[in-house]
Amino acid sequence: MAERSYPIYIGAGLLARGKLLAQHLPQDRVALITDTTVAALYLDVVADALGAAGVSVTKVVVPTGEQHKDWHNLNAVFDTLLANHCERKTTLVALGGGVIGDLAGFAAATYLRGVPFIQLPTTLLAQVDSSVGGKTAINHPRGKNMIGAFYQPLAVIADTATLNTLPDRELSAGLAEVIKYGLIRDPAFFAWLESNIEALIGREPAALAYAISRSCENKAEVVAADEREESGTRALLNLGHTFGHAIETGLGYGTWLHGEAVAAGTVMAARLSQHLGLIGAPELARVAALLERARLPVNAPDLGVERYLQLMGMDKKVEGGRMRFILLRAIGSALLTAEVSRDALAAVLAASVAHA
Ligand code: NAD
Ligand code: GLY
Repeated sequence: MAERSYPIYIGAGLLARGKLLAQHLPQDRVALITDTTVAALYLDVVADALGAAGVSVTKVVVPTGEQHKDWHNLNAVFDTLLANHCERKTTLVALGGGVIGDLAGFAAATYLRGVPFIQLPTTLLAQVDSSVGGKTAINHPRGKNMIGAFYQPLAVIADTATLNTLPDRELSAGLAEVIKYGLIRDPAFFAWLESNIEALIGREPAALAYAISRSCENKAEVVAADEREESGTRALLNLGHTFGHAIETGLGYGTWLHGEAVAAGTVMAARLSQHLGLIGAPELARVAALLERARLPVNAPDLGVERYLQLMGMDKKVEGGRMRFILLRAIGSALLTAEVSRDALAAVLAASVAHA
């Protein structure tokens, strides 16, 4: 995807560097989209920096939280863009976590049939995963991220200093996606994480900087190989997500954080891998131990086996009516398969809930 490649800037204090963003704009005008929590922390910093760089800013603030990544708030964004006569060359800038990135990105993909887009991720999860790769979406009451588009940004600017204000629970949620890269394709990174997880929890800047850049490298390589999730390569980034999305939808959006649901879902995927003889008990234990040290849940909520199966049947990877799963064949190696019997799945779901 060389023709669609874009820079990812990572560093402390980047939000205050208005010219860094301004150099990517086709017009000296942006709509800056954020949530109420991030607005209180960083909206003025970014708006002032852009103003100083000669860029005019329309501010769009939506309510904080996963439950607001929906049609209603998408339409509220369109209302503000239209009321302010935002044009085809007006860039939409997402300032916030993955919820804002996904919502603003989908708005950018569809407003006036597509306008320029820039990501300013402010959570660990968004800096290591959601801001890179061009997946945008809103949730539907029946399933996570069901309505969306592939739409790449012009640039990603990750200010690592914003992580200083991130609550501990949100930091841990981001680590679930960091650990994912180690598990699916980067065994050396997984081993590094086993040695450095306490440094990451303790927010040591050098450890965080390495984890963010190594995660972005992994993500960029996967997306370059399979931008629109057609060959099966990009689907591997969904390790734990079929189970995790079922948890998020089943409990109600925002009850568990996305990263928490992915963590418990990753253990379920590892348990299914063990059940099918792909990995052994020591590997399953290593997966659960690292997630637990990252202060993430490793046991699944009891939605009931039938409800899990119903929710997982909504997964975007379902093909020809068959569910497909990301499984582990080693720490650092994953595969996509439909070869999972209903009995195996039901047994693992029952065991995961029984562990709770
Ligand atoms: P989020 O956007 O809800 O942010 C988490 C919380 O932190 C929110 O309350 C937010 O207001 C707050 N916050 C953000 N930055 C802050 C800061 N610097 N200081 C203090 N508080 C801050 O959630 P998230 O975990 O960033 O993202 C989860 C979403 O990302 C989910 O909807 C998930 O589906 C999506 N996602 C998308 C992709 C993708 O490829 N597009 C990948 C992974 C996840
Ligand atoms: N987070 C999954 C993907 O970007 O494909």
